[in-house]
Amino acid sequence: MAAPRAIGIGLLGLGVVGSGVARILTERADTYAARVGRALEIRRVLVRDPRKPRPVELPPGMLGTDPEAVLGDPAIALVIEVMGGEQPAYEYLCRALERGKYVVTANKEVMAKHGPELYELAARRGVDILFEASVGGGIPLIAPLQRDLLANEITSMRAIINGTTNYILTRMARDGTDYRAALRQAQQLGYAEPDPTNDVEGMDAAYKLAVLASLGFRMTVRPGDVYREGITRLHPREFRYAAELGYALKLLAIATRDDHRVLARVHPALIPAEEPLAKVDGVNNAVEVVGDLLGRAMFQGQGAGSMPTTSAVVADVIDAAFRIAHGGEGRPAWRADPDAQVCPMSELQTRYYLRLTVPDRAGVLARVTRVLGEQYQISIASIIQKEADETARTAEIVIMTHLASEGAAQAAVKSLEKLDVVRAVGALIRVEGQA
Ligand code: NAP
Ligand code: HSE
Repeated sequence: MAAPRAIGIGLLGLGVVGSGVARILTERADTYAARVGRALEIRRVLVRDPRKPRPVELPPGMLGTDPEAVLGDPAIALVIEVMGGEQPAYEYLCRALERGKYVVTANKEVMAKHGPELYELAARRGVDILFEASVGGGIPLIAPLQRDLLANEITSMRAIINGTTNYILTRMARDGTDYRAALRQAQQLGYAEPDPTNDVEGMDAAYKLAVLASLGFRMTVRPGDVYREGITRLHPREFRYAAELGYALKLLAIATRDDHRVLARVHPALIPAEEPLAKVDGVNNAVEVVGDLLGRAMFQGQGAGSMPTTSAVVADVIDAAFRIAHGGEGRPAWRADPDAQVCPMSELQTRYYLRLTVPDRAGVLARVTRVLGEQYQISIASIIQKEADETARTAEIVIMTHLASEGAAQAAVKSLEKLDVVRAVGALIRVEGQA
């Protein structure tokens, strides 16, 4: 009997991830053929520059710059998109799905901005879109949310989902270096891009949180629904004071659901040093999920890099190829909760760390606490006077509040900035304990 026909694969992109995927699909062809029951064969690869040297060797003539050579080839049943960026990736994914091809993508930006439209298109065409690598590199996150946690009502997710910023913050905490120096180290080691804006301003984490929250809460959360603050204004002092108070300072991506109301946010936050998330250092990622049946679970590992990301992409390829070879629907369809709403950030209730520079003289603290307590009903948990500058005759005070609303905290900062006894509001950082 003739061997069953190989499943044709088109690869869009042959960079860090694409090269890893092409290499592993080639090197482990026999193993994956046995797992799927049919061979997997890369037929065409789309790149920008076919003459560029590549870390993987592919047969001559396989690389090209014409997307139609991949998307229009009827022998290609599965398209892997590892180009990145919103366009033309989104357009190519739509074209592949329209033509009844399965799609695997690592593209968080496209999934965050257009996920629901892509699921709908895939369902209409009787195929599927798989995107495990789009969040957390090699860490299994998407499949658990789509399958293993389906019996739960997910109430919260807290995550460190950007390796670049976690590396920078880890360096600042350990070495006392400032933000610029830590960013330079991240760039020298190849963790941060030459233009690190998307990472350090929290956009990358916001895309990933939008994907996770949409899946976990079964509602449409777009990147614009995610409140976002980056790490560029953090001062080395905050890490020292945080540690003295028993906290770590991390860029957290947090989504919480209360009934049909969801709040999603990415910002620096203090977390108690003994919590597992506080111990996730360097480029590692971790996502903590709370479900009503499961309780708390944490997924942790390498959130980026060629091989960890290849692990997730190739797993999706094997899953899709198995369905192409043997049929089968795959998983319950994603349907958005029509009653779900995104809450404004002003409704957040949390605790705050506030650092002020004030003149070192009697009566100052009373003025500050009056603004917080009497004007904004923000209750103070502790006040510590940190070092004084004898020449400038100023002192730094660090205030930890009890639960307060974000609206009140922001308004209080504005009022404090206007007080003649406040030289500067150095930092207002949210304090997050376990939900
Ligand atoms: P990359 O190294 O920059 O590679 C991008 C590849 O796509 C290159 O081969 C490039 O061609 C090709 N390409 C880009 N735009 C194109 C266009 N308009 N037409 C044709 N080809 C185009 O990117 P990457 O790091 O592999 O990332 C790929 C995707 O994986 C992104 O969505 C990223 O967010 C995601 N991801 C990456 C990581 C990671 O660790 N790198 C982790 C998780 C997810 P040339 O080579 O000819 O320039
Ligand atoms: N720039 C991302 C990070 C890479 O630093 O986590 C993976 O999406």
